[in-house]
Amino acid sequence: MASAAVAISPSAPFPDAVQIVPFDAPLGAEVFGLDLSRPVDTATFARIKQAHLDHHVLVFRDARITPAQQVDFSRRFGPLQIHVLRNFQLAGHPEVLIVSNIKEDGKPIGLGDAGAYWHSDLSYKEKPSLGSLLHAQELPGEGGDTLFANQHLAWDTLPQELRSAVHGRLAEHSYLAKYEELRARNPYRPALTQAQIDEVVPVQQPVVRTHPETGRRALFVSEHFTTRIVGLPQDESDALLAELFALSTRESLVYRHQWQPHDLVFWDNRSVMHLAAGTPDHERRLLYRTTIEGDAPF
Ligand code: OGA
Ligand code: MN
Repeated sequence: MASAAVAISPSAPFPDAVQIVPFDAPLGAEVFGLDLSRPVDTATFARIKQAHLDHHVLVFRDARITPAQQVDFSRRFGPLQIHVLRNFQLAGHPEVLIVSNIKEDGKPIGLGDAGAYWHSDLSYKEKPSLGSLLHAQELPGEGGDTLFANQHLAWDTLPQELRSAVHGRLAEHSYLAKYEELRARNPYRPALTQAQIDEVVPVQQPVVRTHPETGRRALFVSEHFTTRIVGLPQDESDALLAELFALSTRESLVYRHQWQPHDLVFWDNRSVMHLAAGTPDHERRLLYRTTIEGDAPF
């Protein structure tokens, strides 16, 4: 009896294997066929890690996972960081930051305006974030998109005179940069205690960083946290930063994520900046964030 020839080459995916399908966008890919409520095997994990480096934003649709499973999966990429706003930790899971505009008994249950300006998470810390995972719990009927801008492309396409102006320079990043402005717009944002203020002393980061895993350069300044370019007069620094902010977030660099129920989105804070497009006040939006610690930028 002749046996049916089944060609299995080591590189060919099995029909039920994980598929990574890049978006028709300057960054981002969707991961199909992975059940994150089960342990991810070593080989699959390696593929996810590589895809994250290649595409910078990974979208897992319909990820039916608990906060504990989100924490466990996130932790495989590195230690998790605890946000300075301890006010908005998920009960029992200090590593989970509640991102939400919902108020209960007149009190916010989470950070309602996370991402109101373009930023990279925790760039104001000596060790900023490697990447963040945001898991949708409750989504608004309108609005609430998240935008991601590719900062490798931002650097690659920067005009030569701007590259020369910033090459080798440091910039100051501060958590406090826009804090009072945000509080004026959103009275639900809590006042910081002195202990919280002491925890977020400004740091200096290279304006152009090298991705520690791929070696690619990326622009690393943001409207939210970058206050000045070190060594330049403030007016020159302001003008230069304004140009960089505009060029680094232009539409040709952006993927816009439209959330669907149970989406889990995992981005690389070393490669992209992101922005919350905004949610109307009368709509409810709730997501859980875990944040992985990265290396000191160089
Ligand atoms: C964040 C963030 C954007 C959003 O959670 O880090 O910036 O759309 N969120 O909620
Ligand atoms: Mn953010």
